[in-house]
Parts: sequence; structure tokens; C-alpha cells
Amino acid sequence: MKGILLAGGRGTRLYPLTKTISKQLLPVYDKPMIFYPLSTLMLFDIREILIISTPEDLPNIERLLGNGSTLGLSISYAIQEEPRGIAEAFIIGASFIGEDNVCLILGDNIFYLGEHINKYVDAIHKHEHSQATIFAYHVSNPNRFGVIEFDNNFNVKSIEEKPINPKSNFVSVGLYFYPSDVIAKANKLSPSKRNELEITDLNNMYLKEGRLQALPLLRGNAWLDAGTPDSLMDSSNFVQIIEKRQGLKIACLEEIAYKKGYINADQLEGIINNLTDGNYKDYLIKVLADEYEFY
Ligand code: G1P
Repeated sequence: MKGILLAGGRGTRLYPLTKTISKQLLPVYDKPMIFYPLSTLMLFDIREILIISTPEDLPNIERLLGNGSTLGLSISYAIQEEPRGIAEAFIIGASFIGEDNVCLILGDNIFYLGEHINKYVDAIHKHEHSQATIFAYHVSNPNRFGVIEFDNNFNVKSIEEKPINPKSNFVSVGLYFYPSDVIAKANKLSPSKRNELEITDLNNMYLKEGRLQALPLLRGNAWLDAGTPDSLMDSSNFVQIIEKRQGLKIACLEEIAYKKGYINADQLEGIINNLTDGNYKDYLIKVLADEYEFY
């Protein structure tokens, strides 16, 4: 399974924060925003990753993450010239995807899934060659998102992008899994009223063919999008509260790479030795000392 992380857009809802800095590089508490979706891909065991961003922002993201080898990942990069929609990622990433299945995650989406992730992985793998899998989250303000209507058995009845009168409180989050025919489907899309290739239109194609499952994220899981001043602040507060309380970090890429066995102790030590002194280094020293071995 390949992974695409879409870190495009102009970040207009965060202007002037985003005048000179990519939205996805803004801080969410103690890390750049992009660490969070990247950590989610890693937690889903996706190690071959394409990051798509704007011509202006891509060099900085590349400076931050490089080719991913120090984390045991393979990261490549591609440019989205104009914000032409989320679904364009599959057209830009067509040769990267090839014949594989692919996961797409949005660069401003923050997930806190804990042990439940194993359940989701199983459900995705069951149908990964035949079905698309998306996730639903219950929110208080559905009309800002793609709204999913379910029947009593959690089968999808409809998905509507930012409807005025939402049919439910379940919305589609920015984490999507598709078989490789997603490329052909994306190529058939026409731009919406806001002149974008909509992910909701793509999901509706799978729905029409009876090939879409939407899994409700379980209660206790958190999903935040950090694309507005308030949600950015909420995201920082959320991460701060959990990290301060537990003394454990969310989205510490080096920790995840080490615990998943993508890198060994020597490699983690090498990373630590290259860091300047501070909180992040101290944390990684504890991780290496096995203080949090299986946690
Ligand atoms: C996009 C999708 C929407 C989805 C949301 C999740 O919205 O179009 O369906 O619910 O991401 O973050 P946008 O960020 O383009 O407004």
C-alpha cells in the first residue's frame, strides 16, 4: 500500500499566518503540523510516501523530511501547481501509485486513534483490492465537511460536500483508502462549482458501484483538522494536554519508526547524537533507554 500526503492549498483560512509559511509547517503545539498526518501513515504501516505540495512550499517540506531514510521511510515529492482539489492527488501521483492500493491523508488532519488502529487496519485489508474505505466522525458542525448519511447498519446512503442542510452529524475525515482504479476514476471527474476535483465526487463513484465502506471512528478517537485559527488552536491544546499529562508524545516520528522496527537502536542513537539539547532530544533518549518499551 502506497501513501499520499496532500499538503497543498494556499491556507487562505489561516491568512496572514500562511503568507510566508506553508500551513502544514505551522506548529501544532511542539511539532510541525505535517508530522501528525505522516505519523498516521506510519501507524498504518505505510512506508512508501509521496508528499504533494505547492511549488513555493515543497522545498521547505523537503528540507524538513528529506527522503525519509533516517526514519526507515521512502519519501518522494510532487508539485500541485494550483489548488485544483483533493482528488487531483491521484492524477499527480498516478505513476507513484502504479498498480498498488493507495491511502490518501490530508496534511492538516490530526488523528489520535490509539489501539483502535488495529481494528481499522483489519477492516481495510479485508477489502483493499475491491473497495474504497473512508472514515466517518461525529461532529457538532457537519456543514463544513463532506457529510455521510448512513442506514441503520452503517451502510452509506449518501455523501454530500458541505450541504446547507446536513442529513447527519457524521462527516468524512481526510483519510481515504482506495484500490488502484482510483486513478482512472479521478481522471473522469469534472471540476465542481468551486473549480476543484472533489474527493466527495470520487467517493460517490465508488458508492454508486456498491464499493464504498465508511467506518465510523470509535468514540474515544480524536480527529481534528487544523485548517482554521480556532481548529489550529484546538489541535495545539489537545496535543499539549495529552502530552503534558502523560509525558508521552503524539506523532514523534523517530519514536514510531523505532517502535515499529523501521530503524534500530543504533540508528536512533545516531539521530539523537545529531540533535541539539532540549526537550525533544531528552524524550528520544528515554525512548532509546526503553523506558516506554511497549507503550
Ligand atoms: C475536505 C473535503 C471534505 C472533508 C474535509 C476533511 O474539505 O472536501 O469532504 O470532510 O476535507 O478535512 P476542505 O478541506 O477542502 O474544505
